[in-house]
Amino acid sequence: MEHHHSAPRCIAFFLLPLLASVHYAQANPGRGSIHSIFSFSNSYGDTGNFVKLGAPLLPIIPFSNLPYGETFFGRPTGRASNGRIILDFIADEFGLPFVPPILGEEHNFTHGANFAVIGATALDLSYFYEKNITSAPPFNSSLSVQLDWFQKLKPTLCSTPQGCRDYFRRSVFLMGEFGGNDYTFIMAAGKTLDQVASFVPEIVQSISAGVEQLVKEGGRYVVVPGQPPMGCIPIVLTLYASPNKKHYDPGTGCLRKYNALARYHNRVLVEAVYRLRIKYPATKIVYAHYYTPVMEFLREPIRFGSVPRRGSECAVARAGRTTTT
Ligand SMILES: *[C@@H]1O[C@H](CO)[C@@H](O)[C@H](O)[C@H]1NC(C)=O
Ligand SMILES: *[C@@H]1O[C@H](CO)[C@@H](O)[C@H](O)[C@H]1NC(C)=O
Ligand SMILES: *[C@@H]1O[C@H](CO)[C@@H](O)[C@H](O)[C@H]1NC(C)=O
Repeated sequence: MEHHHSAPRCIAFFLLPLLASVHYAQANPGRGSIHSIFSFSNSYGDTGNFVKLGAPLLPIIPFSNLPYGETFFGRPTGRASNGRIILDFIADEFGLPFVPPILGEEHNFTHGANFAVIGATALDLSYFYEKNITSAPPFNSSLSVQLDWFQKLKPTLCSTPQGCRDYFRRSVFLMGEFGGNDYTFIMAAGKTLDQVASFVPEIVQSISAGVEQLVKEGGRYVVVPGQPPMGCIPIVLTLYASPNKKHYDPGTGCLRKYNALARYHNRVLVEAVYRLRIKYPATKIVYAHYYTPVMEFLREPIRFGSVPRRGSECAVARAGRTTTT
């Protein structure tokens, strides 16, 4: 087992800015035309909510300690990364401040709010419990809970229905990534990969319903990220390590079948995004590819600026770091 143990474990400590991969289907909103960003996601998007939510409940929160935050902020910020996350680069691109976590110290959300929570799922906790999937941790932070937080924040931003629509037409909304944790928890409950795949339509439906809610609030710009390659994520590589070399993609060391699950999720999600575009032509709804760019980084880390750590087989470990999503 040793022969493929070290490489995949290293390769997947990885979270890089993927802004370049956000393809706008229609014209980009110009810099200056956007005054706020609202983000719903999990560890790919969290900028400090989980550490607040978990503080009273957990004795140790890794994200509250170095090396989280070491490369850019110089201190842990609650991001599940050693540097900035995609959301930070998007904010920067629009000339806006980093998007403050809704549970953090900043209480002025004029320029947007971040509802993302490490470990958050597309499906509700009650749904997992009904299906006896008790591997889902008891944090009530799913997509619909994050949307509830958004509804509670709304009256502080705008006061009339028309005023709110006018406000949110100048916002960028990020709905995702969602689904990665759902699949991880369902797998941890002992389901086969086929059984896990049967949850894809429901998970995509939940994301799609979330987008619709934002469109109905007046949202004009909604970004819907897909799954990164799940078979490259540390938790998956650790829990589902295989003695069979054929289970791994030779170019990246990722587990093939979990990547196939991510691609299936993405196909269903892309179709859902196209349906939403047809239904809401006045809103720019774009699918953001996370899968392909991450695979490219893993195949050619040096080309993308990741310097191999000396004395280590680990080519990209310093590019970023994430454990659960
Ligand atoms: C919040 O920030 C905005 C812009 O940064 C500022 O105009 C506004 O006065 C602030 N609101 C409060 C209540 O401090
Ligand atoms: C969940 O587990 C309980 C107790 O073991 C059982 O009675 C129930 O039928 C199970 N439900 C499902 C949906 O599997
Ligand atoms: C989660 O929070 C929502 C409110 O956002 C509440 O309606 C729901 O009952 C909570 N669920 C659990 C399992 O605590």
